[in-house]
Amino acid sequence: MVENKIINRNSYDQVMLPIYAPADFIPVRGQGSRVWDQQGQEYIDFAGGIAVLALGHCHPALVNALKQQSEKLWHISNVFTNEPALTLAQKLIDATFAQKVFFANSGAEANEAAFKLARRYAITRHHPNKTKIIAFHQAFHGRTFFTVAVGGQPKYAEGFGPKPADIVHVPFNDLAAVRAVIDDHTCAVVLEPIQGEGGITPATMAFLHGVRALCDKHQALLVFDEVQSGMGRTGKLYAYQHYGVQPDILTTAKALGGGFPISAMLTTDTISAAMETGAHGTTYGGNPLACTVGCVALDIINTPAVLMGVEKRYDIFIHALEKINQKYGIFHEFRGKGLLIGAVLKAEYQGKAREILQQAAKLGVMLLSAGDSILRFTPSLIIPEDEIIEGMMRLEIAISQWLSRYDS
Ligand SMILES: Cc1ncc(COP(=O)(O)O)c(C=O)c1O
Repeated sequence: MVENKIINRNSYDQVMLPIYAPADFIPVRGQGSRVWDQQGQEYIDFAGGIAVLALGHCHPALVNALKQQSEKLWHISNVFTNEPALTLAQKLIDATFAQKVFFANSGAEANEAAFKLARRYAITRHHPNKTKIIAFHQAFHGRTFFTVAVGGQPKYAEGFGPKPADIVHVPFNDLAAVRAVIDDHTCAVVLEPIQGEGGITPATMAFLHGVRALCDKHQALLVFDEVQSGMGRTGKLYAYQHYGVQPDILTTAKALGGGFPISAMLTTDTISAAMETGAHGTTYGGNPLACTVGCVALDIINTPAVLMGVEKRYDIFIHALEKINQKYGIFHEFRGKGLLIGAVLKAEYQGKAREILQQAAKLGVMLLSAGDSILRFTPSLIIPEDEIIEGMMRLEIAISQWLSRYDS
């Protein structure tokens, strides 16, 4: 076993594939919306593990469920089914448009399954050339090869050889652009109701309704990636429920396990019938540990107390951000919904989000960026209101310190 004392941030560069640039400190403990690092410094967590920790760190109900299940059955494979998976599937069905569920372990895997299902459905129910997928610039759907190809950020898909084909990208929220490319060869339109990684951009009401109508006209499936926007993040269980537009396939992950890896793809009876035994699969997807935690997370999140609290917390964040902006004038606008908030830096601070995050961490507050010019807030849905206020005070000091260096 490696001695604890040699585990520090330098170890990362020695032993890990160099695909991330993690912060200088190493968190070792979390409770609620607070985190402590190796040196004992405490942080208020506005990042929430990138919209994963909907109930904060180590929520007692999740810890308890995991402990209990860990003494019963960890893993059994999909050669057998298991009670927690069936229970969670039924809960998701009861709470949404869906009638069938597929479990996986990550957002990318759920999307991979969604895109394969959409193609399979179109090929078997319509015709073999109905394979075109329409997706959007700036979209993010994960890092498998199919999902980076559908994602709208070419930098993630290039440099790995030939990409999955027949995928067309158009500007988000531009219905005319969708209308111009959709045809009877289109199998699916794929979108995030609120683009997360791409800049915290909500779909407009007219756009989502218009895309739904175009999909119906051309017998294309509408796929909503709610990996980030789902599980209560916007104040409803899924963001589509704000719009009154129902997808044919929906993917959910991140907060579904409150920090324990699990994802799901939801769809209808009719569409799911395009898959037969052996058409797709996973070893770990739907394992009893993950599904047990998912059941408890869903039961807690899908309650008026938690969902209605999201809107209230949004107001506190926006009020604090506006106050900071009155003093320092660094933000151009605030975007998002519920606790998926983007604070867009003004043109003169373009590309500086990461520097501000680093300064914020020094002052004891963890947050994220979306791209290099937007500060992103995706905290626990139940973060105590006084911790929002305290965290925003720390952020204000961080911004004032960063600005005084930047301007001098
Ligand atoms: C909208 C969306 N889809 C898919 C993914 C990929 O999820 P994962 O990293 O769990 O594969 C993410 C991750 O940030 C996401 O925000």
